[in-house]
Amino acid sequence: MKKAAVIGLGDISGTHIAAITDNPNITLAAVCDIDEAKRDAAPQDVPFYTDYQEMILRERPDVVHICLPHYLHVPVSQTAVGMGVHVFCEKPMALNSREARQFVEFERENPDVHMGICLQNRYNNSVVMLKELIDSGRYGRVTGTRGLVPWSRPKEYYERKPWRGRWETAGGGCMINQSVHTLDLLYFLGGPITSVKASVSQLLDYDIEVEDTVTARLDYAGSARGLFMATNANYKNESVQIRVQLEKAEFLIVDSILYQVEPDGGRKMLIRDDGQKLTEDRQKPNAKFYYGPSHGKAIRDFYEAVETGSGNYIHVKDALMSIQLIDAIQESGRTGKTVQVPQI
Ligand SMILES: NC(=O)c1ccc[n+]([C@@H]2O[C@H](COP(=O)([O-])OP(=O)(O)OC[C@H]3O[C@@H](n4cnc5c(N)ncnc54)[C@H](O)[C@@H]3O)[C@@H](O)[C@H]2O)c1
Repeated sequence: MKKAAVIGLGDISGTHIAAITDNPNITLAAVCDIDEAKRDAAPQDVPFYTDYQEMILRERPDVVHICLPHYLHVPVSQTAVGMGVHVFCEKPMALNSREARQFVEFERENPDVHMGICLQNRYNNSVVMLKELIDSGRYGRVTGTRGLVPWSRPKEYYERKPWRGRWETAGGGCMINQSVHTLDLLYFLGGPITSVKASVSQLLDYDIEVEDTVTARLDYAGSARGLFMATNANYKNESVQIRVQLEKAEFLIVDSILYQVEPDGGRKMLIRDDGQKLTEDRQKPNAKFYYGPSHGKAIRDFYEAVETGSGNYIHVKDALMSIQLIDAIQESGRTGKTVQVPQI
């Protein structure tokens, strides 16, 4: 039995706490938030702390889950590792490429400590199957991708948690916060992306610093072309869509279902993600619809790795490309030029 502790008891923490308490191999040993009012976010018999270092010293958890604003991910991860615990950190892995590369170096220097990044959508049934179909080589190479994130965030989303609208604390807007998963999957499924050209803008008249809308062309190694579109300015939250064209077939993930697209435009359903309620839940800010269904799977694999020493989870280095892509898209948006993406 491994002991877990959760740092940060905001919106996403309930998903971690549920995955921990649902897993018979993990016990929730303690939780922490600087805000005393968050005490009720965890079961009452779980010790609550306002100082995460005191929590680690007293409770000696095996793993801490970092569910904090983006600017705290790297420093709190490094402090926790320094205190002898493994770290499962929410996305994004860092605020920007510079900090991300430093985190990768830190991971390399501490090979005995597990550091996992919560890019849980890689575990969705639809994504796992599509990755297998692509890697099988049966359909030839990838020739094109498209990722669409047509979401909506009310002004109140930023007013309630002002860190989300600021460069210093969030590292960006709709890309690093809402659509880092989709960018990660466009890379995970389509392969290395070497350059991008983008338009990055604010369509919403909110009092925030960061972008709410992005369109980007992605140039893959080889000749494949990708298109990425993300916004928080839609009138409602609609399903993320990921389309992958190969030489001999085309696939589409939408509404948490993987389809093969037939030559006449029809769709053949291949697999559905676990536990999706496709209608009534999607407007609720805490609904799993936003997050995808796979936190439990990502957390299960991470703890198995801690138990057995397997390397079977999403490492810090695996998440680096998503941040390098975001930085390149931001730079292209500022300069209006095609920007090279550093390769790993
Ligand atoms: N994987 C996903 O699909 C997914 C979905 C939503 C959010 N997230 C990520 O989860 C993280 C948290 O997001 P959120 O929306 O829950 O944020 P939030 O603002 O709702 O919660 C953050 C919490 O951290 C607490 N906190 C701040 N500083 C602290 C400190 N030093 N020690 C202890 N607690 C502290 C705050 O009081 C707050 O309760 C972000 O990185 C976000 O991008 C991931």
